Amino acid sequence: MGTESKDIPCKILGIGSHVPSNIIDNNKLSERVDTSDEWITTRTGIKQRCFANEEEATSDLAFMAAQNALDDAKISPNDIDLIIVATITPDMAFPSTACLIQHKLGIPKVTSFDVEAACSGFLYALDIADGMLKSGRYNRALVVGAEKLSSIMDWADRTTCVLFGDGAGAVILSREGDGPRLIGFNCGADGSNPSLLHQPAGGSLMPASEKSIAARGHFLKMNGKEIFKSAVRVMEAAATDLLISHGLSAKDVDHVIPHQANARIVESLSLRLEIPLEKFFCNLDRYGNTSAASIPLALDEAKKASLFKPGQLGLMVAFGAGLTWSSVLVRF
Ligand code: UT7
Repeated sequence: MGTESKDIPCKILGIGSHVPSNIIDNNKLSERVDTSDEWITTRTGIKQRCFANEEEATSDLAFMAAQNALDDAKISPNDIDLIIVATITPDMAFPSTACLIQHKLGIPKVTSFDVEAACSGFLYALDIADGMLKSGRYNRALVVGAEKLSSIMDWADRTTCVLFGDGAGAVILSREGDGPRLIGFNCGADGSNPSLLHQPAGGSLMPASEKSIAARGHFLKMNGKEIFKSAVRVMEAAATDLLISHGLSAKDVDHVIPHQANARIVESLSLRLEIPLEKFFCNLDRYGNTSAASIPLALDEAKKASLFKPGQLGLMVAFGAGLTWSSVLVRF
């Protein structure tokens, strides 16, 4: 449930993002998959997505986003003493992608670890970083959401492979300094039906084998219809509970930065929350669903478009495999 800390809120000192340069629009995709621009656009709102090259990994995208966030915050990597990366597509099972970017940033010894909460991962990571900073044991956190979803997409499954893209977004969080304040968090999960959205092979339950490869078990699998219904329900609840626990209502919200999965999910959420669609920031038409990267990528674009005015209230809200959900309130 949502709680508002009595402590001084953590601030976002800087935001950055990065997407690979290889843009694939729906027409290009339909040369490879039995689909069409018309189907993808009307069912999802997605027009194009960016894919990383074969030699580019999630840590490369994460590193670029981190650099951009550090530049935006006007601080050096040496000012960071905590790195958290949210991802479901780490470079490898271990070590963590956070450790890999720690080395790329040249800041040895800094506490570094990954968080896996699928598309809610970035907001989970913000919640964790906020708690660690408020403990007083850390001063400045680099929080990244990064994915190379093209590495787990099944090109033989047109119901999923048209939906996803690669990218990364990052923020610098601190108790000191100026910037948008994180004022409330609400994370939750329901693990009762994991196979609604999962990557079944490659873990201890189904290690890599000829059988797992034949079953295409190393690719993402999803029950799209059920996920759609759950997404709208859990995001509505995550947002409403958080607002109520802070004595706020939908009318107080100036901007919603939702997880960028499907324009129809965003429209349904807008109706259910009774927050006008114009208040929702969407860039899924250009990037598709980038899972843990989707919210920081949207946050960065919205900030660069000078959308946020001082004093306004922002609501970030996500859902993902698990099922997981999360909402975070930010006062600009
Ligand atoms: O971050 C969380 C990740 N997941 C999501 O957010 C996904 C949530 N779910 C969705 O966004 C939607 O369920 C989808 C976009 C995945 C699918 O939309 P839908 O309206 O639920 O379509 P459907 O699965 O019911 O399929 C409708 C038809 C089927 O044909 P028939 O059986 O009606 O003849 C599919 O075979 O569309 C067909 N279809 C396609 N046609 C062209 C499915 N995928 C495609 C495709 N191109 N890519």
